[in-house]
Amino acid sequence: MTETNIVTSIATPNIAFIKYWGKRDYTGLNTPNNSSISMTLDETVKTTTSVFFSSKIKKDTIFINGVEDSILAKEVSEKSRYMNAILNKMRSLSKINYHALIVSENNFPSGAGIASSASGAAALVIALNEALSLKMNTKELSIMARQISGSACRSLYGGIVKWHKGSRDDGTDSYAEQIFKKEHWKELIDIIAIVDSGTKKISSSIGHEATVKTSTLYKERPAFAERNIEEIEKAIKNKDIDLLSRIIMKDSNNMHATMLDTWPPIMYLNDSSKEIIYNIHELNDSQKNEKYIAGYTFDAGPNAHIITTEEHRDEVLDSLKGVKGIKKILESHQGAGPRILSKDESLLNESTLTPKKMK
Ligand code: PMV
Repeated sequence: MTETNIVTSIATPNIAFIKYWGKRDYTGLNTPNNSSISMTLDETVKTTTSVFFSSKIKKDTIFINGVEDSILAKEVSEKSRYMNAILNKMRSLSKINYHALIVSENNFPSGAGIASSASGAAALVIALNEALSLKMNTKELSIMARQISGSACRSLYGGIVKWHKGSRDDGTDSYAEQIFKKEHWKELIDIIAIVDSGTKKISSSIGHEATVKTSTLYKERPAFAERNIEEIEKAIKNKDIDLLSRIIMKDSNNMHATMLDTWPPIMYLNDSSKEIIYNIHELNDSQKNEKYIAGYTFDAGPNAHIITTEEHRDEVLDSLKGVKGIKKILESHQGAGPRILSKDESLLNESTLTPKKMK
């Protein structure tokens, strides 16, 4: 055999309800200080990735959105280095030793302010597993994706997902699993208000470490998050949007407070994010029965994810009207998790060894 099949996969980002911020290990294991819970998004936002190993390929090459990105270049980001490490690790577990050609595309414009690292890492490990015939199970793939970008380990599953922090030094018990199928609470939606499409000034890799090292408030954070996990599981089990909203807002605010308490401070939220926070509180406070109907949550960036149910969608959208700086609104239900596509849906041209769509 001189080459593998071309394998193409799709994965989607996830939005954390209870956040991961702060690691136990900074050497590439990405083991977290607390467990976390997320909702996998549907294919409104997705990464598609094709991989191919062949004797015709002269060096490992990756194209992201039609542009070549050398993962072996000297000055590469930490996530690219980790991606390269996982490519090498998974290839060494197989009988194949050819170079790889990887073509990856996001259906959302890069710089749309939506983290593509989780969907990108999940799509990659799924495709590598299939192309290299490794037959790893989803838990093992979750552990692989975690080592590229921590939060990516949750994008291996659909519905509502829990990442168990684990305690072993080698990270073998730090993996994600699905805790609720997407059908359990199918009315749940994420309304994403894009207020900034730039790349963040401080990468999450740098942020995790800086907060743990310098924030006094952070000492309370892991225990707070663990308590929130118990509550959020209850809220989801009972489809209780009031409780869910309260917990996710408090958890997001708590994480962003530790970021602000980092030295020098890290501030991911901007004025539009803050206006959205106030508007959602106003919306909740105006409910006659005192029950909250929506909650905001922010990852390491200013774009708001507003979690609500179909029933309250229009009210939430109304409350966002007039917020200065909202560039775009996306809506996502829970997604089903990653999948392998058919051969015809490959993104790469086998004869030229380039993406079908070049920039
Ligand atoms: O996976 P990373 O290293 O990009 O960290 C992301 C962490 C947050 O998005 C802020 C929270 C989370 O749990 O997804």
